[in-house]
Amino acid sequence: MSESQLWDAVDDYVTAHLAPDDETLEAAVRDSETAGLPQIAVTAPQGKFLHLLALIQGARTVLEIGTLGGYSTIWLARALPADGRLVSLEYSARHAEVATRNIARAGLDKLVEVRVGPALESLPRLADENPAPFDLVFIDADKANNPHYVEWALRLTRAGSLIVVDNVVRGGRVADADDTSPDVVGTRAALELIGSHPRLSGTALQTVGAKGYDGFALARVLA
Ligand code: SAH
Ligand code: DHB
Ligand code: MG
Repeated sequence: MSESQLWDAVDDYVTAHLAPDDETLEAAVRDSETAGLPQIAVTAPQGKFLHLLALIQGARTVLEIGTLGGYSTIWLARALPADGRLVSLEYSARHAEVATRNIARAGLDKLVEVRVGPALESLPRLADENPAPFDLVFIDADKANNPHYVEWALRLTRAGSLIVVDNVVRGGRVADADDTSPDVVGTRAALELIGSHPRLSGTALQTVGAKGYDGFALARVLA
């Protein structure tokens, strides 16, 4: 068995026993695929991880940057109380349309709002509305803008909020100083910002699984 076959097998095992995909999540994956969306959503164990983080955090409000077909959105929103709120920002109107259907089928449309447009335009508009601070921010869009998204997350959160960044390892490319592609440069800048910011305490964890070798960064807002 190759290494990646092993990762797949373990992800299948963990999914079956600890993060079973129900019909709603399966339908979200299926319809995203049928609509031709890239298959880059978090895996089921990762979705369950996000769900648990939101529960541990006692989150009532979540901000997500990068909706795609709403798969991670559904895992996160399912951790919220009935009067909770999740705002998800998505560049592509087509992705947002698929996500909106998936979220409605999950019965979460009262909690979730998908806003279409480049996140760097949606974020200042959102800030202008003076929303209640978000308890958790999940950053999972264009990686080149990751440092900007961390800065915006800081403006839209409170002491004790949690910021999660997806795809911070990218097969190890993050640690390759010769790799100067915009996504890797953006991710490194975000990690170094988290590491040096007086208001943040964070770390990054490497992951393997059905979507390859990657990782999450977590940062707690301190003050
Ligand atoms: N969080 C999703 C996956 C998101 S994939 C999940 O795990 O289920 C990344 C998404 O970010 C894509 O849908 C892409 O269209 C979107 N995106 C890319 N650039 C963006 C931008 N500038 N603003 C907002 N969304 C963007
Ligand atoms: C890509 C984006 C993601 O958010 C992800 O989880 C995996 C891959 C990408 O743009 O390739
Ligand atoms: Mg991702």
